Amino acid sequence: MDKTSDAVELEAQVYGERRNKSGKPVKMPQFEKSTVHMRDPERVEQIICGLIKGGASKLQIITDFDMTLSKFAVNGNRCPSCHNIIDNCKLVTEECRAKLLQLKNKYYLIEVDPQLTMEEKYPFMVEWYFKTHTLLVEQRLERDKLAEVVRESHAALRDGYEHFFDRLQQHDVPVFIFSAGLGDVLEEIIRQAGVYHPNVKVVSNFMDFDENGVLKGFKGELIHVYNKHDGALRNTEYFKQVKASCNVVLMGDSLGDLSMADAVPHVENILKIGFLNDKVEERLDKYMDSYDIVLVKDETLEVPNAILQKVL
Ligand code: TMP
Ligand code: MG
Repeated sequence: MDKTSDAVELEAQVYGERRNKSGKPVKMPQFEKSTVHMRDPERVEQIICGLIKGGASKLQIITDFDMTLSKFAVNGNRCPSCHNIIDNCKLVTEECRAKLLQLKNKYYLIEVDPQLTMEEKYPFMVEWYFKTHTLLVEQRLERDKLAEVVRESHAALRDGYEHFFDRLQQHDVPVFIFSAGLGDVLEEIIRQAGVYHPNVKVVSNFMDFDENGVLKGFKGELIHVYNKHDGALRNTEYFKQVKASCNVVLMGDSLGDLSMADAVPHVENILKIGFLNDKVEERLDKYMDSYDIVLVKDETLEVPNAILQKVL
């Protein structure tokens, strides 16, 4: 079937006018990186064309935080999740730190186990969060110390994050950060990085402090790695506000992140970008089945930024 001139024009925008020696269009240079894996590049092209057509007014971003907006590793050293920032901080006793580390060693392996289904992992995640959060409450963490703890941590956002957030703010595109991390820590990270713009909304596990600013529990229902669909549905009010934004770029690093857009009422186009950071060989196939674009051990936001540059 002949392509309409509209489609050809859009395709030219995605792939650029450059052609290789055999006359085939050269794709976006960022897509040529060895970190980029796609099961169906033509489908990706179609989705991006849909996003370009819709422009800023139809776009929203729904993204995970830990190991998606934040880095997984720098020079082979693991970067901390929101929880790890607290695990490693001076407010926590050595005894508690040892217990938290023990929990992490046990449950992280379950979180990324390629052999287990999400359903099988689910009760273990609930157990991990319950035990961790109970330990944190016992530590009587003080709200006023969190900013300093984050400042002294090794928190790192993926390269290109300034560009990512600033462009989205300039075009007034809603950004929904949906995290099973610790909301207070997360907000402090993006605030200190200077990218907590008014178009950004954070839904996460927020600490509940007593009248002296001492941690006494957590607000609302727990969000863990594999119940984001419930959390999404609880935030339907938010999605109602942005209901005109029927084009979605979803970003995550876990298969549990794929359900973050479940509550968006009328999705026209959705592009799912997955960061595969760990157990790559064992999980690549499944990730390529589930995410449109899989970025393997890619510590940057180059690919999302390149797509946004076309759309906005
Ligand atoms: P995310 O939804 O923003 O990715 O945040 C959840 C991550 O936090 C998930 O990968 C598991 C991780 N986590 C820890 O690192 N330590 C903990 O104690 C817990 C409960 C979760
Ligand atoms: Mg994550």
